[in-house]
Amino acid sequence: MKEIVVSGIRSTGNLHLGNYFGALRNFIKMQHEHTCYFFIADYHSLTTHPDPAMLHVNVKNILSEYLAAGLDPDVATIFLQSDLPQIPELYLLLNMHVYVGELERTVSFKEKVRKQPDNVNAGLLTYPSLMAADILMHKATKVPVGKDQEQHLEMTRRFARRFNTIYGVDYFPEPDAYNFGSELVKIPGLDGSGKMGKSEGNCVYLIDDEKNLRKKVMRAVTDQGPTEPNSVKPEPIENLFTIMKVVSTPDTVDYFEEKYNTCQIRYGDMKKQLAEDILKVTLPIRNRILEIQKDDDYLRKVVKQGAEKARESASKVLSDVRQIMGFKSF
Ligand code: TYM
Repeated sequence: MKEIVVSGIRSTGNLHLGNYFGALRNFIKMQHEHTCYFFIADYHSLTTHPDPAMLHVNVKNILSEYLAAGLDPDVATIFLQSDLPQIPELYLLLNMHVYVGELERTVSFKEKVRKQPDNVNAGLLTYPSLMAADILMHKATKVPVGKDQEQHLEMTRRFARRFNTIYGVDYFPEPDAYNFGSELVKIPGLDGSGKMGKSEGNCVYLIDDEKNLRKKVMRAVTDQGPTEPNSVKPEPIENLFTIMKVVSTPDTVDYFEEKYNTCQIRYGDMKKQLAEDILKVTLPIRNRILEIQKDDDYLRKVVKQGAEKARESASKVLSDVRQIMGFKSF
């Protein structure tokens, strides 16, 4: 069945391995089989990083990274969230049926309240409704995202269902969070705990050069090594294996598992291999990023073409929604 696929990444910095394996890689695989919309969530970036000097730079970097990683603008629709005036309008309409209580209970909101207590803005609270507007704007059925976005997708499904029920229609499909393999993934950081994330400072970026990348991986947190055979791996070690499982061959993973289970593991060797295998993924992308970033004409063309295609689908949906909600012309 041909799916409608929508996903995006906030323009808050360069793309890291978590973004790549959680979202982008899946999207690249899906673009040839399905109708795909992939965008840069620049409005969402304002909830945490309102920086006029950096906004355009970040958007340009991410666009170059999308293209370098393999998104094809002639196949998928690649656009900027802020190029679609229909999104803020749908966001406003959806918000009329979204309750403050449910927004306050969102895990990501509670986390942000903890992290940025001096800037608990209304955009942060309504982050899930803006995300739902992005997704429902194209009546998406599948949304390739990492594990951390699961709750936002549940909320999008709930908002879609609520809209259909209130207005007695069967208009919005209920989209699923999606990973091409099977389970949604969470790529851990190199600091021993938690997920890889821009604000955690524990990332490997697609744009990292070889020397820097090797240095970061070699500095990843480990321990003294196991003293009992087949012991349970502490979190920092489990994390290294998790990253290895996405970048290395199964034989390589098995080799180091065996070394761990027999208490012969040398983390230095494991990290060297891990850096090597990460570089196999990131270096070709990095080289293309550097090329594409220089080509302003190409980037301009991609954004223009994407905005036109995305607006076509968005204006149709918005006009339907307005009709359903009772907005009629005189
Ligand atoms: P953002 O920029 O935080 O993350 C972008 C995508 O990368 C995934 N991701 C990860 N996946 C696995 N392991 C990690 N360590 C990791 N870190 C990030 C995220 O799950 C996400 O898929 N709210 C979205 C942006 C957005 C969006 C949308 C996505 C706005 N509107 C509509 C889909 C559909 C976000 O968190 O971006």
